[in-house]
Amino acid sequence: MEIFGQLEFPGDKSLSHRAAILAAMAEGESTIENFLWAEDTLNTLRAMELLGCEVKKDEKRKKIYLNSPGIKGWKSPREKIDVGNSGTGARLLLGLLSGCEGLSARIDGDESLRKRPMGRVCEPLSLFGAQFTPKDFLPIEVHGRKLKDIAYREDLGSAQVKSALILAAIASSTRLYLEEVCPSRDHTENMLRFAGVGISKRPSEQGYVMEMHPPYALSPRNYHIWGDVSSAAFFVVLALLAERGELLIRNVLLNPYRSRYLDILKQMGGNIQILEQKERCGERGGDILVRPSSLRGITIEPKDIPSIIDELPILTIAGVFAEGNFSFRGAKELRVKESDRISALVQNLKALGVEVEEYPDGLSLEGQSTRILKGNVQSFMDHRIVMSFEIAQLKSKSNAKTNEELVKIEGRNWVNTSFPDFYEKLNYLLNPQKPLEDTMAVVTFDGPAGSGKSSLAKKVADKYAFYQIDSGAIYRALTYLALKHYQKSELSQEEKGQFFEFLERNPLILSFNGQRQQLLEQNGQLFGAELRSREVALHIKGIADDPDFRHYVNKLVRQAAEKFPVVVDGRDMGTVVFPEAPLKFFVTATLEVRARRRLAEMADQTISLSELMREIAERDRQDESRPYGSLKPAEDAIFLDTTHYDLDETFSIVEAYLRQCPSRALQIALNREGKPNEL
Ligand code: CDP
Ligand code: CDP
Repeated sequence: MEIFGQLEFPGDKSLSHRAAILAAMAEGESTIENFLWAEDTLNTLRAMELLGCEVKKDEKRKKIYLNSPGIKGWKSPREKIDVGNSGTGARLLLGLLSGCEGLSARIDGDESLRKRPMGRVCEPLSLFGAQFTPKDFLPIEVHGRKLKDIAYREDLGSAQVKSALILAAIASSTRLYLEEVCPSRDHTENMLRFAGVGISKRPSEQGYVMEMHPPYALSPRNYHIWGDVSSAAFFVVLALLAERGELLIRNVLLNPYRSRYLDILKQMGGNIQILEQKERCGERGGDILVRPSSLRGITIEPKDIPSIIDELPILTIAGVFAEGNFSFRGAKELRVKESDRISALVQNLKALGVEVEEYPDGLSLEGQSTRILKGNVQSFMDHRIVMSFEIAQLKSKSNAKTNEELVKIEGRNWVNTSFPDFYEKLNYLLNPQKPLEDTMAVVTFDGPAGSGKSSLAKKVADKYAFYQIDSGAIYRALTYLALKHYQKSELSQEEKGQFFEFLERNPLILSFNGQRQQLLEQNGQLFGAELRSREVALHIKGIADDPDFRHYVNKLVRQAAEKFPVVVDGRDMGTVVFPEAPLKFFVTATLEVRARRRLAEMADQTISLSELMREIAERDRQDESRPYGSLKPAEDAIFLDTTHYDLDETFSIVEAYLRQCPSRALQIALNREGKPNEL
């Protein structure tokens, strides 16, 4: 079995609920990108509308515009708030509204939600003056009050209870002191910090102590929701079990409470690389690269169970095809999910001829990589069971080298409840004829000085016979010439006019040497080391801030890119000069590391590290603050933080993105063996 491709996943549900609520709590317009378009999360949005927010939905782009009068401007909803099937929606709203003085609302849900306990949030909130009738099951009337200061010890390990208390304290402008005995998911805390509310959280003997005090000021924000890492699990395991290929997963949440299963798979020998990590709306996320691997069995510790509970079915399938014993205990809760998942796994595996030992809270089995499973299995009306056995089916077919369906799965349609394009994504990965879009063969590297962009660009140029353009050198040449003729780089209008006339008579010509590196000449004279002087660097601002000079540089650069496959570096290559480039990188490293690298390159080290750091920081500031062509990442740029990586390590990451880039023009350019100088 060979797989290849890159996948993205819909927005994470927990983050989507919270973004809708926090956006509504801040006065003004917030936006939410990659919002999960599902019944549960749309119901939470609807609740915010009923409270008085204006909501615009762009379904095609999965983007929400939410304009709020702020909590103080909310009014009691005209109709009941129906949260449908969402326990998170219900519990978060009960907490939030209980602290909104003078506001009354009725919260209701569907038949199944009406059976789930709400006392776990209403009881603790009542201790501080919140009023609910009744307190145990929906529908519940909540009458908002000014609450007393909240001091509570949370020992259920429930993120919903914790979040309800936090939101109630904010709505009511009261203090909060919370002891968290069994630490639970921390999305509410992370996202609140992003929205501008400081929560102090420090480790205690058993878990954490959290403290917060008014005034609380939430600000409108742009929430960008990471993809759901849990849905990715099926594809990660598929890629590990494949014989050849690689899978790149883009833009998924990497919060440790949610991506713990990746660590377990790594401990089983899985080749999983986190390529890029960055922060969005207070949460970490990024891209992961997965390659076929020989897996070994593992005993999963009970302490890990809470953070991998949803992934246990697919981890068990990984265990079936790993060498040696695979087992887990301490997962009693798995019996009360959409199905009794322990029993569902055991029954199905037995039906396929696998010997499994069942425990009240887990299972144990002997795995084998060459195993061929055969037989009929049931869905147990559970989407995760179906998807897990689908992966088992693909691996069995691959081991048996057959196209025949060996594992017959009854009830495949259950997949649709959570993952309507599951089969589409599988087909795409298994089918090597990927749809390719046509664009120009351009790779851009932007970033601050010393981050490593030109070194990476050179490596791409060398290995794949791309032409390398260094836009900074053109800014440097213009600065050098201005200094030569005017002894300054900030020119008056008149001087600028003269300078452009001079450039017209004596144009800068961009060409390439035998190694496809950029040459810059004027009147047959090549520019050289003089451009790299400190003097030039210190005066670049006058040129680089001027839109006319920027147009001049941009035109030269674009003309060169029309003829060849190019790799370019600069500050605004991905944002202004090549917004349509199929592959863009934004390279960074800490200021100190960048300055050290620069210092090491200097022949005369007459400048101290701290002085160089000051100069580079000043240039960063200038580059970031210019109104046109400023230094900033393109929205679709891949972040590369090179602080802790050497050039070869970073380049191997760049190569993974090159291989995976869906642009047809780029793939042709990368693979034009034998004729490197033609496109
Ligand atoms: O090599 P280093 O990163 O120090 O700088 P460079 O790439 O040679 O660029 C020198 C300066 O030119 C930068 O600090 C920017 O101010 C300017 N520049 C720019 O404004 N836009 C670009 N695309 C490239 C460089
Ligand atoms: O082009 P930019 O100013 O971003 O940086 P560069 O000239 O490519 O890199 C500056 C220096 O840092 C070079 O000597 C690189 O070899 C070195 N470097 C490194 O040590 N580790 C990296 N990951 C990237 C660059």
